[in-house]
Amino acid sequence: MIDVTITRRETQGRDIVVLDLAAADGAPLPAFEAGAHIDVEIAPGLTRQYSLCGDPAEHGRYRIGVLKDAASRGGSAAIHDGFAQGQTVRIGAPRNLFPLDAGAPGAVLLGGGIGVTPMIAMAHALHAAGTPFTLHYFARELAGAAFLDELAQLPFAAAVTLHSDAGEATPAFDPATDLPAPGSGAHVYICGPAGFMEHMEAQARAGGFAPGAIHREFFSAAPDAQGGSFELELARSGRTIEVAEGQTIVAALAAIGIKVDVSCEQGICGTCLCDVLEGEPDHRDSFLTGEERAEGDQMMLCCSRAKTPRLVIDL
Ligand code: FES
Repeated sequence: MIDVTITRRETQGRDIVVLDLAAADGAPLPAFEAGAHIDVEIAPGLTRQYSLCGDPAEHGRYRIGVLKDAASRGGSAAIHDGFAQGQTVRIGAPRNLFPLDAGAPGAVLLGGGIGVTPMIAMAHALHAAGTPFTLHYFARELAGAAFLDELAQLPFAAAVTLHSDAGEATPAFDPATDLPAPGSGAHVYICGPAGFMEHMEAQARAGGFAPGAIHREFFSAAPDAQGGSFELELARSGRTIEVAEGQTIVAALAAIGIKVDVSCEQGICGTCLCDVLEGEPDHRDSFLTGEERAEGDQMMLCCSRAKTPRLVIDL
């Protein structure tokens, strides 16, 4: 963990707080790649993940945007209400689960709402590399959107197109013209609410993009972990426990004294990934790809359940 100071706090748009963070000891912060996120410690034992939205070439500062989520389970609300400029907080080193494909000759970045944050870092990196790209930023209404001034002043502002749902004067997104030909080798990057992600991924697939050329990062509400009971065998110890109706695997394991490393507890970050040796998982996460889910040999213990009466996991 790294102690950082909040060097700047600003409210942008409606309900978005943008924080600039610098190392509390004045040292350079670890370098990060576009698409990376950091864990932010909200309180002891409670961390949340936020994408870095600054320029990866800038080493003295991390920048995050935090939407106040009406359904917040303590993360975003605590930051909005309690994180002040000048305060020291703890963060994890950057981790990248949403990297740019360095070999792709072009990119289309599709950011819905607060999902624009990793796209801004990606746009910086693509611009620095001289890789052609466009950034489409979708907002319910521009009056509630953050980062508009910043995007307008960046050297790649001409590559940015705003789209508003509120009847404001912005162009409609047209996949036929706004997505490049799949044969161009360009990749598509999508981040935003689940419905936005599904819609955009469907558009990209309909436009002929192969699954490997479509990259997604989720910003979603907590998954539904409700469901019936099932038996869970721990292959390494040979122990078998019951995961009760409505109980998560992590909670069932904690009840017998086995602590699983977790971070987001929302099926987003991948921290609790575990191999499945027998049985069929009922995936509730947003981390695994469709192909990985279909293979059925890995699952997220924080939220996923079982479709079969019994699961055997590599634990
Ligand atoms: Fe993040 Fe399970 S703790 S996916």
